Amino acid sequence: MKIWMAPAGLHVEPGIMADAKHLARLHGSAFFHGWSEADLGAYIATPDKTPLYVACDARRRIAGFMVLQVAGDEAELLSIIVAPKWRARGLGAALLRAGFDDLQTTPVERMFLEVDEANGSAIALYRRFGFKEVGKREGYYPLKDGTPATALVMRCELD
Ligand SMILES: CC(C)(COP(=O)(O)OP(=O)(O)OC[C@H]1O[C@@H](n2cnc3c(N)ncnc32)[C@H](O)[C@@H]1OP(=O)(O)O)[C@@H](O)C(=O)NCCC(=O)NCCS
Repeated sequence: MKIWMAPAGLHVEPGIMADAKHLARLHGSAFFHGWSEADLGAYIATPDKTPLYVACDARRRIAGFMVLQVAGDEAELLSIIVAPKWRARGLGAALLRAGFDDLQTTPVERMFLEVDEANGSAIALYRRFGFKEVGKREGYYPLKDGTPATALVMRCELD
């Protein structure tokens, strides 16, 4: 079984179907186009294509999650969220570390992501993991209120 240690007494492991409802609530609280329970269940059902990782405690109370999409030698970070009360404790980093570690056993060589250019804490986290800006998409990213924002496209080469 895959399991990675995380700060604050939590750990990271692959998502299971029973998580989908909680993940949908967490996603909807952070993003304008919140994913439904069915969307999240579809990701969980295809772990080779869309690995999903949750940060949770021993009773599976979920503090955050991350979804990747894998295609050939590339992966895309589709979403990463940590619940507000759990932020700035290293859980975002723990989710990324788990995903990177898991990809070691796959043909994936690089990861891409898109992030609102105003999302300083996410960008700082990605830079620490070696992501570099490779492009911009004007008016692409819908903010929580629906306003379009410019997205940065970032890329990271895996070791
Ligand atoms: C982006 C996001 C996932 C980061 O999650 P997080 O758990 O807060 O991330 P981390 O704790 O690993 O790192 C965040 C900050 O906490 C700091 N930190 C990490 N561990 C810490 C600790 N033990 N004590 C104090 N600070 C700590 C990090 O240095 C970092 O600081 P910085 O951003 O000023 O450089 C979270 O802010 C979030 O869910 N945002 C809303 C959704 C979102 O925007 N997602 C990304 C776009 S898809």
